[in-house]
Amino acid sequence: MLNRQGRPSQAGEGAAERHETFTGNRALQQIEPLIFEIGHHESTGVDIDRPAPFKSRLGKHARQSEIGLPGLSEPETMRHYVRLSQKNYGIDTGLFPLGSCTMKHNARLNEKVARLPGFSDVHPLQPVSTVPGALDVMLELAHYLMTLTGMPAVALSPKAGAHGEACGMMAIKAAIAAKGEGATRNVVLVPESAHGTNPATAALIGFSVKSVPARADGTVAVEDVKALLGPDVAAIMLTNPNTCGIFEPQIVEIAAAMHEAGAYFYCDGANFNAIVGKARPGDLGVDAMHINLHKTFSTPHGGGGPGAGPVVLSERLAPFAPVPFIHVEGGKSRLVEHKADAPEGNDPFGRMTAFHGQMGMYVRALAYMLSHGADGMKQASEDAVLNANYIRAGLVDLMSLPFPDHPSMHEALFDDDWLKGTGVSTLDFAKAMIDEGYHPMTVYFPLVVHGAMLIEPTESESKASLDLFVATLRDLAIAAKGNDKTRFTAAPHHAPIRRLDETRAARQPVLKWEKPAPVKEAAE
Ligand SMILES: Cc1ncc(COP(=O)(O)O)c(C=O)c1O
Repeated sequence: MLNRQGRPSQAGEGAAERHETFTGNRALQQIEPLIFEIGHHESTGVDIDRPAPFKSRLGKHARQSEIGLPGLSEPETMRHYVRLSQKNYGIDTGLFPLGSCTMKHNARLNEKVARLPGFSDVHPLQPVSTVPGALDVMLELAHYLMTLTGMPAVALSPKAGAHGEACGMMAIKAAIAAKGEGATRNVVLVPESAHGTNPATAALIGFSVKSVPARADGTVAVEDVKALLGPDVAAIMLTNPNTCGIFEPQIVEIAAAMHEAGAYFYCDGANFNAIVGKARPGDLGVDAMHINLHKTFSTPHGGGGPGAGPVVLSERLAPFAPVPFIHVEGGKSRLVEHKADAPEGNDPFGRMTAFHGQMGMYVRALAYMLSHGADGMKQASEDAVLNANYIRAGLVDLMSLPFPDHPSMHEALFDDDWLKGTGVSTLDFAKAMIDEGYHPMTVYFPLVVHGAMLIEPTESESKASLDLFVATLRDLAIAAKGNDKTRFTAAPHHAPIRRLDETRAARQPVLKWEKPAPVKEAAE
């Protein structure tokens, strides 16, 4: 007997004891094969009249055989895509504790506003005179981003955090070139704890990367930065709060040291959500910083198209901001599309995107800002920090902290010291969380912490939700220490697909579906 995948059932003898099923489904969690595995090219959900005979002009280019596209009836198509959509664990399904990713609630009000036809139907090729409202939204968003960061300029067009990093580093490169130091200043300092995008960006823009060691307490020491400074250093890329969830205590001294050495300070602002309304990067000496609108200002991570990673710039870098941008003079605004149209004193380094960025994200972020107000945004930061520390306090007696002397900001970082001798690894623990209905936290990042577990609950979780999460992790931690190894090493037990060979998947990815050889149905 063949199951839904057209393969012999894996259940077999002893299936009941192993809780394995004939279909591969786990109760109402249905496994869904690829459409190629269930569709047949002779099936269709619609009836289309055969075209009247005609003389093809394609000649030898005409298709000689069936393409073999999979066809399904309308109800089958509906089920296929609805089932696939249900495979998606998202912030609308449950707590999503991924550290460094800030999976917070996407306010429905933002979604409603972004769907207003005036915003959702606007086209980037419309004449500028027909979209003054869209330009106003961009100007207002820019105003609040500059106000919240204490910075005098912002480039809105980058489409994500990493894209923003590229924008900031290109502005730095242009500023260095303008000073005639392009040939000599080619080193970028990046702390060991940095997100992988930081060294990757620096290298992509043509800099060579020097690593700044992490102190035993997870922060960067100004002395270590100074020791690396020289006439060849262009900039430092420093994350604050850093990827260990700690506010860099010497950030002001580091900024001053960079400036004194004629270099720039790029701040990775992915964690800005921890300090909005509390500290302004401009006051800390930052020259460029990207803001992930999908983290700090609650726009969705995907779904609505690409994201947005605007970059705020200091006075020194503002002239090099990329086109397009909106220039306001004498109360009138105009769109600067080309370098040649830039106002005097501006020397844009180029262009990051074909058009002006992600309008849908701008509208959502502005709706978030306006609906929260200054006090609401400050409270969101305070609550994000409170929630992270609540989780830390709830687990600290069972799980070990690599940096116990620093309070956590918006995320709580644990290491795997507490798992020593249990036979359970960070990965096993994360997989066991799936059985409990939680998306795992970020694991093995930052790299400076052994077996890192980085938990970011965000401000949007209620106390009840945090209590259940802490209780679940406590139960798992006690089981791990009690040597209940199989709960972990074979996890997930209850997911339709069990533990994957992630190393093999990364090293030998199968990216193309191949039609499997037909299998013979076993005689009943
Ligand atoms: C610290 C840090 N920097 C940069 C990025 C890159 O941002 P994006 O994913 O928007 O490109 C991330 C993303 O998680 C991050 O956590």
